[in-house]
Amino acid sequence: MGSDKVIKLGVNVDHVATIRQARGVSEPDPVAAAILAELAGADGITVHLREDRRHIQDRDVEVLRQTIKTRLNLEMALTDEMIAIALRILPDSVTLVPEGRHELTTEGGLDVTLLQAPLKQKIALLKQAGILVSLFIEPDIDQIRSSHKVGADYIEIHTGTYCEVRTDKERREQLQRIEWAVSAAQKLGLGVNAGHGLDYRNIAPVAAIRGIEEFNIGHSIVARAVLVGMDRAVREMLQLLKG
Ligand code: PXP
Repeated sequence: MGSDKVIKLGVNVDHVATIRQARGVSEPDPVAAAILAELAGADGITVHLREDRRHIQDRDVEVLRQTIKTRLNLEMALTDEMIAIALRILPDSVTLVPEGRHELTTEGGLDVTLLQAPLKQKIALLKQAGILVSLFIEPDIDQIRSSHKVGADYIEIHTGTYCEVRTDKERREQLQRIEWAVSAAQKLGLGVNAGHGLDYRNIAPVAAIRGIEEFNIGHSIVARAVLVGMDRAVREMLQLLKG
């Protein structure tokens, strides 16, 4: 089952910040959530600093860098502003993602083939600073070859389509696509991570694919944390009210 190595989990805490930003206050704090995730055994923490700062703020990334004991993976768009931030904060890794201002979440993978020249230059800068670079791409052979060409250390396979398809046949096809992509990337010496849309129901078949090092999972974990924490939260408030 899985790869020969132990599979790792990177917990994405963006949506803890989404709840905080909805009120414009200081709670819940994604840094506190990251520390709890680490205490529960998470292998790394991921945050996406979006250009519009809709959830994670610059300060969150700075405080996470100083606080967490595992690895900080910064998801970001390929812009000069974000590259400068990464070079200042020095996360352990950067995952480059496409970013659309009106999307609810990252839609589709990066077109590495189209962006080869700027990617090559920016990846070299990040690597010189000791940052591992991962590219979030569709499980597509051209994108994998281009990722290798531009000097990426890792690819992160976009699992969104696998998560969205409705029939068993389509799911099998998508799993096959991911499996091929993992093996093609490994042959080129690229490390392989995966993520997007993974939840408690759909994780098992992807986790069984050999060679995926780390899964980055956000929404489903934060969604479950809200629900499994509700009982205790209500009881604590009732205790204060009724003694
Ligand atoms: N990996 C990447 C590159 C992403 O952009 C996201 C979403 O921020 C995730 C993983 C996590 O996706 P989800 O929140 O659906 O688990």
